[in-house]
Amino acid sequence: MMNKYLTLATLLLTLMTGASLADETDPVAHATAVRLAVGICGTCHGPRGISQQPKYPRLAGQNANYLVAQLKAFRGQTRGDPDAIGYMWGVAGNLEDSTMDALAQYYSGQTAGSGRGGDSALTARGKIIYEQGVAAVGVPACAACHGPDAHGIGDFPRLAGQHAQYVLKQLNSFQSNMRNVAVMHGVAQGLKTEEMSAVAEFLESQP
Ligand code: HEC
Ligand code: HEC
Repeated sequence: MMNKYLTLATLLLTLMTGASLADETDPVAHATAVRLAVGICGTCHGPRGISQQPKYPRLAGQNANYLVAQLKAFRGQTRGDPDAIGYMWGVAGNLEDSTMDALAQYYSGQTAGSGRGGDSALTARGKIIYEQGVAAVGVPACAACHGPDAHGIGDFPRLAGQHAQYVLKQLNSFQSNMRNVAVMHGVAQGLKTEEMSAVAEFLESQP
């Protein structure tokens, strides 16, 4: 029964994202992924990918192709901020492609965690930055790529409900190029620390 639902969810996901994850229905990879998720990943990322500790990003409901790309970046040692090196290079180092695909399917199929209320003045300011960017210094609207509800568009990641502390740290890493992604470096370049904090606070509050 469970397998039927999983297969259907996988099929729907493939149709929705246009993903071609060839191994996603591989029952061995799926079983390995669930075992890893429960036994290893969950100790940091929380049960079903809803971590309570802000150091560990929430993975539930995240885009599957984005998750695979990140796992490959950890394994290939190209995502190189200190926490990526310290926590994820070792974890991802020995994962097979098929296991990565199955882990991504598992986490993208989980219901995302809820938003948590933040400081209201900061959140309001963050909402404006999220929706409009900061035109004076050429920061584009986040919504253009991450979606009006911050649930992600195409392979652009979901940000809604993510821990503010994690989001802030990533924005700093993009700005300094420690996490070296051209498009987000361009976005983060013009942001001041308090603007990053505001948008991070807003995102954490979003369902
Ligand atoms: C010991 C703690 C720990 C364990 C175990 C762990 N992670 Fe992580 N993971 C982290 C930390 C910390 C980060 C954030 C790294 C950073 O700040 O760049 C992270 C980041 C990630 C990301 C990037 C998320 C994003 O939004 O970009 C993915 C995907 C991920 N982990 C998947 C996994 C999977 C799958 C497993 C199990 C196979 C796992 N992790 C096990 C600590 C852990
Ligand atoms: C032109 C498209 C684009 C715009 C505009 C954009 N982003 Fe991004 N963002 C991306 C892409 C692509 C990634 C994935 C980077 C990667 O592959 O590691 C990303 C990743 C991120 C991440 C990392 C997510 C994670 O789970 O680790 C954060 C945080 C983020 N963006 C915040 C923002 C904020 C805040 C804004 C607005 C100020 C913004 N982005 C505007 C394209 C964009």
